[in-house]
Amino acid sequence: MADPYAQSGEFVDVLSREAWLALRPPVVTALSRARPERGPIADIGAGTGLGTMVVAATLPTAEVVAVEPSPILRAALLTRLAGDDLARRVTVQAADIAGMVLPDRLGGVLAVNMIGHLAPDQRRAFWADLRPRLAPDAPLIVNVQPPPTPVTVPETPFTSVPVGRRTYQGSGAARPAGPESVIWTMRYRVLAEDGAVERDLVVDYHWYVLSVRELLDELGAAGYTAAVIDMDVLAATPA
Ligand SMILES: C[S@@+](CC[C@H](N)C(=O)[O-])C[C@H]1O[C@@H](n2cnc3c(N)ncnc32)[C@H](O)[C@@H]1O
Repeated sequence: MADPYAQSGEFVDVLSREAWLALRPPVVTALSRARPERGPIADIGAGTGLGTMVVAATLPTAEVVAVEPSPILRAALLTRLAGDDLARRVTVQAADIAGMVLPDRLGGVLAVNMIGHLAPDQRRAFWADLRPRLAPDAPLIVNVQPPPTPVTVPETPFTSVPVGRRTYQGSGAARPAGPESVIWTMRYRVLAEDGAVERDLVVDYHWYVLSVRELLDELGAAGYTAAVIDMDVLAATPA
């Protein structure tokens, strides 16, 4: 599998932190139903570990399995864990959903900011794979990101983060790419103190679109009871 973050991985953590400030409350709410005593919590497409940290902090006794296929994001994830107390209970798997090896029993699953990477058939196979592994009442926590349908999204600034004497900026625009996907063209910029653009990286990502309604229906058809918590974050439990 080609790594869509091979070029942009450097910028993912710094530019995702603000989004995680908003995602954290609904994810914490959903994690209140996790069953860490019944099995590990899997963070699938864990990226640099921003969600992994929320799981670990919310469930201080939980074992966590963080699945991450991108070498550059996995390096950031490992840097976050190594030398920390978290290294005792977070295991990193260098795999994607096709290659991951999950335990038979899971106390919960996090699949945040990643579902658009999966084609509809992969997504449905993913729900089917997870369902029998989830302990009774344990949540699959998943979110959708815009757009919900394949439409054009004009260039939109997402975030701007000062680090030292530089400012890191992320922006993006999307265009339709067929009946169920878009191409997001993301722009990553590093600005010098005088505002001059020092670095400018543009990367395209293929992204499968899905509305909250479609996700609820799809999870229902896959044998889950699903509900929206907030911020387009859903919690689904085996029905
Ligand atoms: C936008 S990042 C989100 C990372 C993290 N969950 C977060 O919210 O900060 C999307 C993640 O999905 C991962 N990913 C992409 N395709 C995947 C696949 N087929 N199986 C598992 N993970 C995948 C990427 O490597 C990346 O870590």
